[in-house]
Amino acid sequence: MTRLTITGGAGFIGSNFVRSALNRGYDITVVDAFTYAGNRANLEGLDVEVIEGDVADPDIARRAAQRGDTIVHFAAESHNDNSLKDPSPFVRTNILGTFELLQAALRNDVRFHHISTDEVFGDLEIDEPRKFNEDTAYHPSSPYSATKAGSDHLVNAWIRSFGLAATMSNCSNNYGPRQHVEKFIPRQITNILSGRTPKLYGSGLQVRDWIHVDDHNEAVLDILERGRIGQTYAIGADNDHVNNLQVIELICELMGAPGYEHVADRAGHDQRYAIDSSKIREELGWRPRFTDTETGMRSGLENTIAWYRENEDWWRPVKDHVESAYAQKGQ
Ligand code: NAD
Ligand code: TYD
Repeated sequence: MTRLTITGGAGFIGSNFVRSALNRGYDITVVDAFTYAGNRANLEGLDVEVIEGDVADPDIARRAAQRGDTIVHFAAESHNDNSLKDPSPFVRTNILGTFELLQAALRNDVRFHHISTDEVFGDLEIDEPRKFNEDTAYHPSSPYSATKAGSDHLVNAWIRSFGLAATMSNCSNNYGPRQHVEKFIPRQITNILSGRTPKLYGSGLQVRDWIHVDDHNEAVLDILERGRIGQTYAIGADNDHVNNLQVIELICELMGAPGYEHVADRAGHDQRYAIDSSKIREELGWRPRFTDTETGMRSGLENTIAWYRENEDWWRPVKDHVESAYAQKGQ
């Protein structure tokens, strides 16, 4: 296995994955529709072939399958807030796009790895000791998580019904370089860098099991190289004790910002996500690199803040537009 086709390779996690995979010696083809979330600058200077197109187009899906030995499927509409405003691109890309790629992978005898999220499991109570693992029942809350859940079911059906050589991973919330400024952590970092006040939805007591993007991507590469076909792996860095309030306070402390403000809460806001990643740790020996005892996030946030400080040209052009859309919603 030397040639990977990476769908959504111009987005946040996909473009960081391209870098991790190049470091491990793979040849890469990126297939990306370059939506608002896909950025050509994310691939600048990298030795990759690029196919521009929509994975829900059967012809693009066929070309994707014919370019590699394995498809790693990151392409998705990925932002919960957007899915509340207009779910239709979520249904098309996340469900129809995955269907077309599965069909193309089957016809061309190509291995498939599906990138998914812990949000398919719904949410947990703040004080509940339970965590999500590979056996947790699906209970998605938002159009985003419902369409990702739908795509996961398709992958499992193609494995069972057609014998597709596929694996899947469900990871918790990622942060790191090249994440769109609409998302929580980069939004607050760039709010501070552009003289705005960081914005916390509602009480801020919600918990996300944050993981640095490079740790997620190393786990995916381990699954590609040593994972068992037909298996799902839950990926998380054990940060399920850190709530949004603590994250924003740590960002303010690291950046010397005076404080933050509470804004309107998200409709149907999921309370807590927590991942039990024992399976991938025990079976493949994977461990997150960005960890520390205090919050589990200090070193990862320092790395992320430094990237946004050094790459203002990357985020400045879209920042005002993103903030005016949030302002219209009282956020
Ligand atoms: P992103 O929004 O930053 O990037 C998505 C990429 O997919 C963009 O480059 C976009 O142009 C491309 N794309 C969208 N629709 C397409 C289409 N129809 N055809 C081809 N390309 C298309 O998303 P991300 O945060 O990098 O997430 C990538 C994947 O990881 C998604 O499947 C998401 O569900 C999953 N995931 C994300 C997180 C997270 O915290 N961000 C956590 C777990 C899993
Ligand atoms: P987000 O980055 O949108 O990821 P997800 O919806 O996939 O969890 O949001 C992460 C958490 O941060 C979520 O609980 C909502 C909250 N949040 C804020 O408090 N302020 C913000 O400006 C944003 C965008 C999110």
